[in-house]
Amino acid sequence: MSNQRTIKIFDTTLRDGEQSPGASMNLPEKMEIAQALVDLGVDIIEAGFPIASPGDFEAVHEIASNIRGATICGLARCNDRDIDRAWEALKTAKSPRIHVFLATSAIHREFKLKMTPDEIVARAIEGVSRAAGYCDDVEFSPEDAARTEPDFLCRVVEAAIKAGATTVNIPDTVGYATPSHMGRVISDLVKRVPNIGDAVISVHCHNDLGLAVANSLAAVEAGAGQIECTINGIGERAGNCALEEIVMAMRTRNDYYNVATHINTERLVPTSRLVSSVTGMQVQRNKAIVGRNAFAHESGIHQDGMLKEPTTYEIMRPEDVGFAKTDLVLGKHSGRAALADRAKGLGYHLSGEQLQVVFEQFKELADKKKDIYDGDISALCEQQIRGS
Ligand code: KIV
Ligand code: ZN
Repeated sequence: MSNQRTIKIFDTTLRDGEQSPGASMNLPEKMEIAQALVDLGVDIIEAGFPIASPGDFEAVHEIASNIRGATICGLARCNDRDIDRAWEALKTAKSPRIHVFLATSAIHREFKLKMTPDEIVARAIEGVSRAAGYCDDVEFSPEDAARTEPDFLCRVVEAAIKAGATTVNIPDTVGYATPSHMGRVISDLVKRVPNIGDAVISVHCHNDLGLAVANSLAAVEAGAGQIECTINGIGERAGNCALEEIVMAMRTRNDYYNVATHINTERLVPTSRLVSSVTGMQVQRNKAIVGRNAFAHESGIHQDGMLKEPTTYEIMRPEDVGFAKTDLVLGKHSGRAALADRAKGLGYHLSGEQLQVVFEQFKELADKKKDIYDGDISALCEQQIRGS
């Protein structure tokens, strides 16, 4: 398709993801994940928040010094100490980015920062200008943007771009937005901020209402060119937009969105497993794309369809996300076709009559036993073949 846009994938597993309670990672683990993210093909790795702790500083510095193949980003609040510390950690990177954030919503201005709107704009300009003095890749995030008054958001974004921001990231910090709301926030910025074309628009959606992926997709449709996300959707509270889901949504529905990414999708499952084992945060079985059941079928009708033509019940190929193959699980809902297929795979060529007997015995067994193994099927087939 012509005019296809490429959407940048900004991975924040090592920063926002690590903010999931219980998910902290040590230096070797962070290095291993950073390399896996490069192999996956992400464009930007947010490696940490250097001012947060000496360990965070060291991790960002080590990743910046040793990992090649992606832009390495460090987070900073909008003040001199944070920005200087972020640059200190990042300066050995081949392609460094400083990410400066400052809250803009009325709630954060009044209760957290105790700053007026004019003071916020002035501080954003100072912070972005300082970061731009260190490197030419500067991202600015108006924290809690989704709850910021639209006029004020436009004003801050315009000022940040003028001060040197090359990416403006629009966070839905508390996961409050809905898809139509997020789409409107982005299209408003596209229409109303005169210098918006000088920066990439990014979104950073949290998942408090379970809408982070849908909101990110709506933002892409409205003109966003970068998505911030994490592996397995880990992150503060209910987490962030899940990288594997947003990438496969854009790829599977490319007919509609007409966008591409640099992600090597066959690496999605291995990367998900690595992050899960390092953080100890398990992936639920029915999790889209990378869950154990994502390509498993148990019902007889579905299995029969799958054996005839996989696209009857699968919209993606399991191999494309890193699974070996579709899993036709044998259970009490399964049908004769799947049983015959499994028996054949195990080396048993049953006559129609033999298959019928094995099928009846299999159904009896499946009513008693939750998991049916290949050994169980082999035993039933052996019995039939030897007995006849
Ligand atoms: O959720 C948020 O607002 C953030 C910012 C630092 C981008 O994580
Ligand atoms: Zn966040």
